[in-house]
Amino acid sequence: MARERTFSILKPDATERNLTGAINAMIEQAGLRIVAQKRVRITKEQAERFYAVHKERPFFGELVAFMISGPVVVQVLEGENAISKYREVMGATDPAKAAANTIRKVHARSIGENSVHGSDAPDTAEREIAQFFSENEIVG
Ligand code: CDP
Ligand code: MG
Repeated sequence: MARERTFSILKPDATERNLTGAINAMIEQAGLRIVAQKRVRITKEQAERFYAVHKERPFFGELVAFMISGPVVVQVLEGENAISKYREVMGATDPAKAAANTIRKVHARSIGENSVHGSDAPDTAEREIAQFFSENEIVG
């Protein structure tokens, strides 16, 4: 399997608790390389576009409000099977169901405030990276 890129967000519940370093350590420990990273506040429009696939879901409004409630760290991660590898490192969406030693098991507060986002497929990874980074900001 080829080297792959995935898009990651350290969500507001993580930045609020000063967990950037602790989560980055888990990412790097798993063999994923952080090849781009910036701390930003995203706008409501950016959050709505980012999570557009969920716009009919009952949690959409709450999700958008949460994602703009504080700073986030957006990242590009690179490595072998980066997309599925990062999903493994993150753990299940609901921290109560996440495997031991995953980011969400260790750090997440709830199914909503679950500390991290990771792309779920190559097409979404490409689209999500392009929403927040230009190619010259990614240094592999
Ligand atoms: O983030 P992931 O791909 O694991 O889950 P998702 O099903 O794509 O949902 C996106 C995000 O919506 C989750 O990470 C949660 O922050 C939020 N969510 C929620 O608040 N309540 C749910 N029942 C499901 C998801
Ligand atoms: Mg998802």
